[in-house]
Amino acid sequence: MTTRKLTLRLNGREVETEVEPRSNLADVLRGTPGLTGTHVGCEHGVCGACTVIVDGRAVRSCLMLAVQADGAEVETVEGLGTAEALSPLQQAFSDCHALQCGFCTPGMLMTLEAYLRDHPAPTRDEIRDVLSGNICRCTGYQGIVDAAMQAAAALRGRR
Ligand code: FES
Ligand code: FES
Repeated sequence: MTTRKLTLRLNGREVETEVEPRSNLADVLRGTPGLTGTHVGCEHGVCGACTVIVDGRAVRSCLMLAVQADGAEVETVEGLGTAEALSPLQQAFSDCHALQCGFCTPGMLMTLEAYLRDHPAPTRDEIRDVLSGNICRCTGYQGIVDAAMQAAAALRGRR
């Protein structure tokens, strides 16, 4: 089996591993680093569950080869906060009951995290638009949009 060396800055830490050239980023993140918060649903770029942030942009890790991320800064849901210290977005999801089964939630969080960094004062319609690539089958989007608006306000208060 041919492998390639992959070096990432992953949630703020240098990680070096060997990957098959055909491996996608989602599978690699869920493998040796054990970051299973990155969920894999459709595996063809539709559901958004696998969204992570690569060099500041939200990407679908099921559609990206891991070797394409060599040298990049990669953020996954595990890098947002901890159970003891939730990030503002995670706290807002909890406060607004923005999830039921939670399968889609890591992707929602990473999509919104990337968006809110560049768009501190979004409208509800803009939030709905940016979330249109993230499918949630059980909550409806009302609570998710509420959470995004709450998080945006909290983040503005920190700036
Ligand atoms: S698993 Fe990547 S978009 Fe669905
Ligand atoms: S919370 Fe269940 S799919 Fe989104």
